[in-house]
Amino acid sequence: MPFEGTTAIVTGGAQGLGLAIAEALAGRGTKVAVFDLDTAQLDAEVARLREQGGTVTGYTVDVSDRGQVRAAVERVRSELGPVLILVNNAGVEQFGKFAEITDEQWDRVMAINLRGPFICTQEVLPDMLEAAWGRIVNISSSSAQGGQSQMAAYVSSKSGVIGFTKALALELGPKGITVNTIPPGMVVTPMLEKAIAEGRFTASLEHFAKITPVRRAGRPEDIANAAIFLCQDESSYVTGQVIGVNGGRRT
Ligand SMILES: NC(=O)c1ccc[n+]([C@@H]2O[C@H](COP(=O)([O-])OP(=O)(O)OC[C@H]3O[C@@H](n4cnc5c(N)ncnc54)[C@H](O)[C@@H]3O)[C@@H](O)[C@H]2O)c1
Repeated sequence: MPFEGTTAIVTGGAQGLGLAIAEALAGRGTKVAVFDLDTAQLDAEVARLREQGGTVTGYTVDVSDRGQVRAAVERVRSELGPVLILVNNAGVEQFGKFAEITDEQWDRVMAINLRGPFICTQEVLPDMLEAAWGRIVNISSSSAQGGQSQMAAYVSSKSGVIGFTKALALELGPKGITVNTIPPGMVVTPMLEKAIAEGRFTASLEHFAKITPVRRAGRPEDIANAAIFLCQDESSYVTGQVIGVNGGRRT
């Protein structure tokens, strides 16, 4: 299955990692549907990718809402064709002392970060089963491997994404569908820049670069390159894997 002409959905693709993944897929001729909540940002980036020659369409969708996802996936099917690549990337962070996390905060993080991938995957699965081919890439977090203070809800949700990936890989492997997860570590995106600006981490980005074996912070393209590897036809023997892209920190 070549990238060219295949249809992909990238969630949370209006900025950051999702945008880099959408751009990398579109650059290879994949028809890309970008799901995001932020319509203004989505419209601007979709227009930019189209100017570059990409076949890219934006859909304003909350990935935690079954009705919205179902309606959007149906539109993607009729506008771009059956969905054979899904990148579950949309996510939100939540910082704060464990004792102060509210039920609402906990539920919101779980709804977007864990129920979102569950819903999106269920909704596109019939297309992959029909084609007997599919690629699912879930974006988790290196914090699920090493833990992160004052991020209990977020880390729990991302640990769930790793478990979700492994369970699904076993179930879908016989159907020609691979399921893998990339847990990024310290990649410069609006999410990370905001967290650093708010003083959420004890160290600066420069410090993190110094303690990272490759001596730099991650770039969105680093994650996109790994996602492309996992989505290519030639990666059919790679499934259920946690592919760390973290410069060697927290492997
Ligand atoms: N940047 C990092 O260093 C890093 C590290 C580990 C994990 N991650 C994970 O990578 C993913 C992307 O992170 P990022 O840094 O690009 O974040 P970001 O905040 O820059 O971008 C996330 C995008 O997701 C969208 N989004 C949020 N909630 C949504 C919802 N309910 N439905 C649809 N779209 C929604 C946002 O509007 C935004 O465009 C997230 O899952 C994040 O947890 C990032």
